[in-house]
Amino acid sequence: MAPPHGRHDPSTARFPEGFVWGTATSSYQIEGAVRADGRLPSIWDTFTHTPGRVHRNQTGDLADDHYHRYPEDVSLLADLGVTHYRFSLAWPRLQPEGYGPLNGAGLDFYSRLLDSLLDHGISPWVTLYHWDLPQTLEDSGGWPRRETAEHFAAYAALVHQRLGDRVEHWTTLNEPWCSAFLGYAAGVHAPGRTDGAAALRAAHHLLLGHGLAVRALREQGAGAIGVTLNLAPVEAASPERAADRDAARRVDGLVNRFFLDPLLRGAYPADVLADVADVTGTEHVRDGDLALIGAPLDFLGVNYYTPLVVRRRDAPTPGGPTPWGGAADVETVKRGLPETAMGWEIAPDGLYRTLTRVWREYGPPPLYVTENGAAFDDRVTPEGRVCDEERRGFLESHIAAAHRALAAGADVRGFFVWSLLDNFEWAEGYAKRFGLVHVDFETQRRTMKDSGRWFAEITRANAL
Ligand code: FCB
Repeated sequence: MAPPHGRHDPSTARFPEGFVWGTATSSYQIEGAVRADGRLPSIWDTFTHTPGRVHRNQTGDLADDHYHRYPEDVSLLADLGVTHYRFSLAWPRLQPEGYGPLNGAGLDFYSRLLDSLLDHGISPWVTLYHWDLPQTLEDSGGWPRRETAEHFAAYAALVHQRLGDRVEHWTTLNEPWCSAFLGYAAGVHAPGRTDGAAALRAAHHLLLGHGLAVRALREQGAGAIGVTLNLAPVEAASPERAADRDAARRVDGLVNRFFLDPLLRGAYPADVLADVADVTGTEHVRDGDLALIGAPLDFLGVNYYTPLVVRRRDAPTPGGPTPWGGAADVETVKRGLPETAMGWEIAPDGLYRTLTRVWREYGPPPLYVTENGAAFDDRVTPEGRVCDEERRGFLESHIAAAHRALAAGADVRGFFVWSLLDNFEWAEGYAKRFGLVHVDFETQRRTMKDSGRWFAEITRANAL
């Protein structure tokens, strides 16, 4: 039975024994060293080097220079008391063109990182794809092309052969919705295309790539395999307005159900296929694809930041391409709640609702919150402190929401804060700081924020 909503009682907020506490990062956002040791460009290198795409034309060329500074970053993880670290492998570092043999120098880097993590008692959670597609594969068609899915599975299998001895948890994709719809429809992420039909084909081929990779990893006896989705409750701005309720249904269909249904039920939602029928048909979905995509998983990763509140505009959304194929007449609205520096409204209850909804409607494998966190305009004081009370409050309320979901029966097994470090926040460049650790991008100096010190207490107590 669901506990009453409202204030969380801290005296009960112990987490189960073995609850996973971690932080998350991704390769392009932290590594830098984009031309080192045989790495070739990814779509994000090309995108960031195209003027006008990213805030102040910033790039991930240096980022947090984690490629060279990973020993310090692993010590920071140890300081945070986390037992798990979620990070992604850069495909263009490991297999520079997206096919062919693995690059030894790239493997060496990840091998050193894994050893360092294990030496510190930190269990690595590896994501195989967090948006940095080798540019060569984009040049031959990118995710809208079916072969990209096959290349992805081949890469996954090769990487597992070489690193699988030290990695128990494997995540195929991070947030395929963003890859497909921000990258190929809205064009605000790499590769910056604005073609709604291509985005829908990309979404299917990302899912197919996941399914093919799961099969390949299973054949090799991989440990636990999952996928991470960005999920959010979607509400109608005016629930009494039928047009808004329908807008909410369509957006929920595109963000949540278009991924949850094939992965956990082995079928695309019929209403969404009807909504997007004018954008594209389903010729690219072949017999057998959905059986692969719907193969059983060991865990589902949930990334949650903010809910979506939508309404239907009477005219098509002005201001250029939309990520919403089949819902171009929908716009998001705000409710006047406090916001993070991203302009995202703060609504911890949305995490509770997301976790309990997925649990109730899909009966998924164990759930992990694989990303949650907030950007605020942090400053280092002359005494060398970062007093980020807002981030601490944000995390406390969201960890409490995860605890309430657990108390309501959802099998939530872990919580990863986004992010370990301030880093390259995609189209926002270095303007938005999400880290528990502050990074001075001039000097690469790392400073633990107050929120990081607080999080270290939580991970050690296993309680709020
Ligand atoms: C998620 C991404 C992650 C980070 C956060 C803020 O969508 O997975 O890389 O940028 O948002």
